[in-house]
Amino acid sequence: MNDSTHTHALPRPSGRGLVRKLGWLVLVTAVGIGVHFSLQGIIQSGDAEKRAGPDLHKLEQLEAVDPARAAKVRAGMLKYESICRLCHHRSGIGGKFTPPIAGKTEEGVQTLLKLYRSGVQMGPLTNLMAPWAAELSDEDIGNLAAYVATL
Ligand code: HEC
Repeated sequence: MNDSTHTHALPRPSGRGLVRKLGWLVLVTAVGIGVHFSLQGIIQSGDAEKRAGPDLHKLEQLEAVDPARAAKVRAGMLKYESICRLCHHRSGIGGKFTPPIAGKTEEGVQTLLKLYRSGVQMGPLTNLMAPWAAELSDEDIGNLAAYVATL
């Protein structure tokens, strides 16, 4: 009993408390900075992404040289913006669970959309994609393919 009281009464080496407090201060500051920058990243990227529309510059250039073709691309763009963008991203780069479609050829996109429309099992997430393709007319598919090929 004497021994234990003695152990408790041992003086702590001085400076240790200060080190611990500084440690907490550094930790809290680091976490604070981390939270600040990640929130900033989330808020800014979210806003910028939501505000950004399609790349109209390319379309305007096309309108000047080939109005008929531009009309097709514009119709595809409107459809893409209203449905496809949700999953494949504004610029067609895809998302966490959706494939990128930018960079595909017009024929390639047409073929894929027709396959999805026909109800063929394509990849593991066909059930997510097929209902959208099922709604598309041949004209929609032509327009969408023309637009996706410009992404
Ligand atoms: C609800 C989300 C969702 C929407 C909306 C959607 N897609 Fe998809 N899309 C997917 C998923 C998921 C896949 C992959 C499916 C699979 O695994 O077979 C896919 C696949 C594709 C592919 C084939 C890609 C490849 O490399 O094989 C094309 C092309 C495509 N989508 C175009 C479109 C177009 C055009 C639209 C608008 C009409 C659209 N998608 C709407 C989720 C979606």
